[in-house]
Amino acid sequence: MPEKEKVTGSGISRRQFIKGAGIVIGGTAVGTSVLLSACGGGETTTVTKTNTTTATATQTVTTTAGGSTQTVTTTAAGTTAYVCPYDNQQFSTLAALQAHLEAEHLGTGAAEGTVVLNVNGKARIVQVEPEWSLAFVLREKLGLTGTKVGCDRGECGTCTVLVDGVTMYACMMFANECEGMAITTIEGLASGATLHPVQQAFFDNATYQCGYCTPGNIMSAVALLSKNPNPTRSEVKEALAGNLCYCIDYTRIENTILAAAGGS
Ligand code: FES
Ligand code: FES
Repeated sequence: MPEKEKVTGSGISRRQFIKGAGIVIGGTAVGTSVLLSACGGGETTTVTKTNTTTATATQTVTTTAGGSTQTVTTTAAGTTAYVCPYDNQQFSTLAALQAHLEAEHLGTGAAEGTVVLNVNGKARIVQVEPEWSLAFVLREKLGLTGTKVGCDRGECGTCTVLVDGVTMYACMMFANECEGMAITTIEGLASGATLHPVQQAFFDNATYQCGYCTPGNIMSAVALLSKNPNPTRSEVKEALAGNLCYCIDYTRIENTILAAAGGS
């Protein structure tokens, strides 16, 4: 399935709104989209525009957000106000505006083409096309290349991730289906420099050759051990039945997972 990035022309996206967020500083309106990053977005874009007005006790400033004109009123000369591009509410600090955006706008109904994905415990705002798979978005839009793509048609298991704790083929899910679900990739297992016990067991036992299937194997093993900390060999075989390896002996993989079970 071709997954080429396209620009949609319909509507004003949440990203565009954020890019156009007007920030009124002492009678000067400055727009910036660094908010996107601060709110957990995967990309940082900076757009600056300046409307200079004369500071008075009460004044009206016209600024532009997402291609539409907004008029905001400041109450005192020299006052700094951070303006929500959705509803024009003003906040005295950037942190307050960020909290408002997250509480009132970013976590609810995505603007057309934009989804908020919960990946490894972080909200990631991504503009997606309807046909983009979760695997494509993880790798190409969020830079999480630990998730591999082998067959891209639900046969090999190299793209296995956890969605709400359940193993799923990321190549077979649309990214825009995954909003509101907890997605865990191989990058989300380690705690700092400390590997997850299953990762450590694969490393200690050199349970890989080319390593391409390894992230998928590990994700399936993690899902198994989280529900069944002491599986039998046949339970390990069943849990890993959807993960193909073209290089090494499956018995080695099973032994490693049983060793991880003993140590985790
Ligand atoms: S790449 Fe997803 S199952 Fe093969
Ligand atoms: S180690 Fe190469 S495919 Fe499994």
